[in-house]
Amino acid sequence: MQITKPDHRGEYHFSPKEKWMNDPNGMVFFDGEYHLFFQHHPFGDTWGPMHWGHAVTRDLIRWEELPIALEPDEHGTIFSGSAVVDWQNTTGFFPDEPGLVAIFTHHLERPDAPVVQTQSLAYSTDKGRTWIKYAGNPVLERADLPDFRDPKVFRHEPSGQWIMVVACGQIVSLYRSPDLKQWTWTSDFGQGIGSHDGVWECPDLFELHVDGDPTKSRWVMLVSIGDGGSGSEGSRTQYFVGGFDGETFTPDEASQQVRWLDHGRDNYAGVSWSDIPDEDGRRLYLGWMSNWRYANQTPTDGWRGAMTIARELTLETVDGADTLMQRPARELEEARVPVLELADVTLAGLRLALEPLRLGSFELEVRAESGRSFGFVLREGDSCGTPVGFDAEAGELYIDRTQSGECGFHADFAGRHAARTAQPGSEAGAAAMRERGVTAMQSESGVAERQAADSAAAVSETQAGVQPGADSETKPGMQSGVDSETELRIFVDR
Ligand code: FRU
Repeated sequence: MQITKPDHRGEYHFSPKEKWMNDPNGMVFFDGEYHLFFQHHPFGDTWGPMHWGHAVTRDLIRWEELPIALEPDEHGTIFSGSAVVDWQNTTGFFPDEPGLVAIFTHHLERPDAPVVQTQSLAYSTDKGRTWIKYAGNPVLERADLPDFRDPKVFRHEPSGQWIMVVACGQIVSLYRSPDLKQWTWTSDFGQGIGSHDGVWECPDLFELHVDGDPTKSRWVMLVSIGDGGSGSEGSRTQYFVGGFDGETFTPDEASQQVRWLDHGRDNYAGVSWSDIPDEDGRRLYLGWMSNWRYANQTPTDGWRGAMTIARELTLETVDGADTLMQRPARELEEARVPVLELADVTLAGLRLALEPLRLGSFELEVRAESGRSFGFVLREGDSCGTPVGFDAEAGELYIDRTQSGECGFHADFAGRHAARTAQPGSEAGAAAMRERGVTAMQSESGVAERQAADSAAAVSETQAGVQPGADSETKPGMQSGVDSETELRIFVDR
């Protein structure tokens, strides 16, 4: 299969048919469909007046793009926000059967006046295909704040209220409401904790069981922070673990090292899906696979921006700390068709087996003896290639896109990005690693490689650049030593 597509699109990552896309918005599951709305500029391939684009999927792999859902109006352009199913018709919008409500930011710019950001509603009675803006918009205003945006709303059953977390400059404010229309402020979070490198954006708050134990749970607050300028890594996402009583989020550690969601550069503004059925109990997440540092310059033509794959979030104890873990959604695994399986192979044997393969997109799973370095060069071509691997000495999983082809469009794009595995030598870390040794790296070259590397590091998802002039088919090339205990499996997807 030819994978060096002229337009550089990934195979697994949602991207808009045309023009600009940034944050995922309004992610909600309803009637068998996962909805993904997104920040969209339909008239340009750089950021501009924002609309909500729309796509749906039933399997988290194949996406169908639908017409634009929300367009700018007299209150402003349509910034980020969320969507929920109003099962009990708390809004009065759904006398007949439950429907969807979007809660989003109106962003208003006028000549000679300060920017105004307010929170507004729209609702849909036809599964998100068409939307009616609420006549009482905006429903929440804060004249004192220039940055007041990205409401994420969820139903909190113990208090029988809707809860909103919304970014306010460098903190998150929490509000509650009985009907999504009248909002009461309950608390603020964020002063003196976490990274304040940039403006706080796109918060999310949800409860997760710890180590899969239904009797033990904590709350996770996600906060994306904007590009903090030189010296920072650009825009990225941090998280906090704590308790939530319906009004206040209290972090478990009053001050803590900043906890980053990802170790790569390309995951921003991600939030979780609302209304995934309870019996399923999983928390699915997806982010924008870019970075404000260079998002407007990535070398695509006619379209720009892609999402990460869908990931499942869990809380697990690592070295005594409740740690947010990420795995590709199980649907990706279920779609696998094995094409090659090798056990106890030598390096020479592996080379021989890999050399003739021309697979296009594929998944690669490697299980190696702990403590051994190994890696693969993806999309190797004339003076380019993208090494991914595990560096045992540094205890790091890495992806190196310094030579990934067309990556000269911004100095901060090319680079080696690494995730430290759990502390080498730590008992808890080692046990966690043995038990759940799966980590994934996915590259925008259209290649998904999953590595079971006896390591429990978080996912690092990153754009790997594309080599238009290079070998047009993807083949993995061995990079360094693999010993006799190595197992390797290659899959393509159905
Ligand atoms: C995050 C963000 C949001 C805002 C949107 C505008 O990337 O800056 O805070 O709502 O993008 O497109």
